[in-house]
Amino acid sequence: MFEVKAEAYDRFVGRYSPQLATALCDFAGVEVGMRVVDVGAGPGALTSELARRAGASNVVAVEPSEAFAHACRARVPGVEVVEAGAEALPLPNDAFDATFSQLVLNFVDDAPAAVREMARVTRAGGVIAGCVWDYSGEMQMLRAFWDAAQEVDPAGAAAHDEARMRWAREGELVELWERIGLLRIRSASLRARGRYSDFDDLWASFLGGVGPAGAFTVGLGEDDRAALRDALARRVGAGDQPFELTARAWAVVGTVP
Ligand SMILES: C[S@@+](CC[C@H](N)C(=O)[O-])C[C@H]1O[C@@H](n2cnc3c(N)ncnc32)[C@H](O)[C@@H]1O
Repeated sequence: MFEVKAEAYDRFVGRYSPQLATALCDFAGVEVGMRVVDVGAGPGALTSELARRAGASNVVAVEPSEAFAHACRARVPGVEVVEAGAEALPLPNDAFDATFSQLVLNFVDDAPAAVREMARVTRAGGVIAGCVWDYSGEMQMLRAFWDAAQEVDPAGAAAHDEARMRWAREGELVELWERIGLLRIRSASLRARGRYSDFDDLWASFLGGVGPAGAFTVGLGEDDRAALRDALARRVGAGDQPFELTARAWAVVGTVP
């Protein structure tokens, strides 16, 4: 799902990531000189914002997809990019002031293990911040997509809709942060906007095969894919004019004891 070209990701969720990264950094607080980690960095939208705020040489990005790690290295010079998964961070104990994870924890097999790892590499008094889309509600692009997919392939859509994933409902990340024993936990809802030149621009973003929605789209036969396109166009109500969709993410930050 994420072993794809960075440009395909840019067209898809990458449209929203830079705005979300700014909102997450404002929410959690990032200052010059802080040593920070971006877990599940993708092609580097949050990494880039962390580098801008903390200084590139203070940032480590961790990303398991080789193509994304390569893009992140090229896009954010001076940052150390490590190819690894969140459940076993190849980083020393207590070495960082803050550890971030944007739009990743719902995709990780063992999210509690991942957050424990984030806490292990962060010094006492440092912060851990994360966010996940509100897939069942106000992530308009993916909600409209899966509702349209339900019309075409109800069983397939029900099986792959990210709304079924853990840690994606309001309050679930807070529960996770509490379970790991983080202190002074705060939560927020963060918003980002995706701009599209027309409906075809939106539709093309699914054809890159990125994430569950992209993989679902490219896995359909030609007739079902055409039906999905029509159903999505009806739901979004967009034609050949520019339009925007909004997306909400649930965010949490806590302090390492
Ligand atoms: C939706 S993308 C988010 C990328 C980036 N953080 C952003 O905000 O644009 C999800 C990312 O999680 C990564 N990922 C998936 N499983 C992971 C794991 N077990 N550990 C770390 N990252 C993982 C994927 O490779 C992908 O880059």
